[in-house]
Amino acid sequence: METDEQDKIFEDFERENGFSAMPEVVSEVLFALQSSRTTMHEVGEIIMRDPGFSTRLIHYANSGAYFTAVPASSIDQAVRIIGLGPLKGLCLGLPVFTRYKHVLGVREIWAHSRATAICCQIVSEAVRFPEPDTAETAGLLHDIGKVVLAVSAGNFFLSQIQVADSPERKPDWKQEKEHLGFNHCFIGGWFARKFQMPPPLVEAILWHHEYEKSRYGRDLACLCMVGDQIAASIGFSHPDDVFVEPGLVGALKHLGIDDALFRRIMTRCLERVARMVAYD
Ligand SMILES: [Fe+2]
Ligand SMILES: [Fe+2]
Repeated sequence: METDEQDKIFEDFERENGFSAMPEVVSEVLFALQSSRTTMHEVGEIIMRDPGFSTRLIHYANSGAYFTAVPASSIDQAVRIIGLGPLKGLCLGLPVFTRYKHVLGVREIWAHSRATAICCQIVSEAVRFPEPDTAETAGLLHDIGKVVLAVSAGNFFLSQIQVADSPERKPDWKQEKEHLGFNHCFIGGWFARKFQMPPPLVEAILWHHEYEKSRYGRDLACLCMVGDQIAASIGFSHPDDVFVEPGLVGALKHLGIDDALFRRIMTRCLERVARMVAYD
């Protein structure tokens, strides 16, 4: 695909469907979160102005994504449970996934993304990754580029869903590159840059299938890949690719995860993701 055609996909998505069509409250929250002095209560007050978004956020806080003794019943409690770091990712992800939930494959991508966010939380805790909130956000947003493909390159995406379990197929990101000239990682990186995500997060989304290429966030990209592949292996795979990549072995080694630790991580991921299902 020519560069002009790539630009057209992005521009069409942006103009007709795009991220600029996000609820006003989302831009206000993102603006408020630019200041490190913004408190959780202030963020909650902004979110409360949009009852629909508030409801979805409370639902997410209670959806099994977090350990909570008492479910959130107010937006203040939901913000406290989620935390300001992951909240930024949710502000970007929730409206996009909600808006396109009727598009074929998007519900599955959302379920996979939520499961990946949980698995990234668990892996980051297991390897003592210093920024667990960023890892969770990376998990939640890593495949956001697939939503753009599902919406703006629907025929191609549908053709990939049809061969999702074909043993001869190449991994999704390679298929996309071969047929479109770019892949969902590239679109996700563009999305994250557009909304001024921190550079390591942009890189994690951009390189979540090729962490070796990341210069500024290799460990985070690698962790995101591990979370992504674990989610796929426990039943929350991508609608357009059901396989686990062989590169997982190298990624586990990169993070220092041996067999015993991997077994513990898998057990915890299964337990937590099962809770997510129960709450859904
Ligand atoms: Fe991906
Ligand atoms: Fe994924």
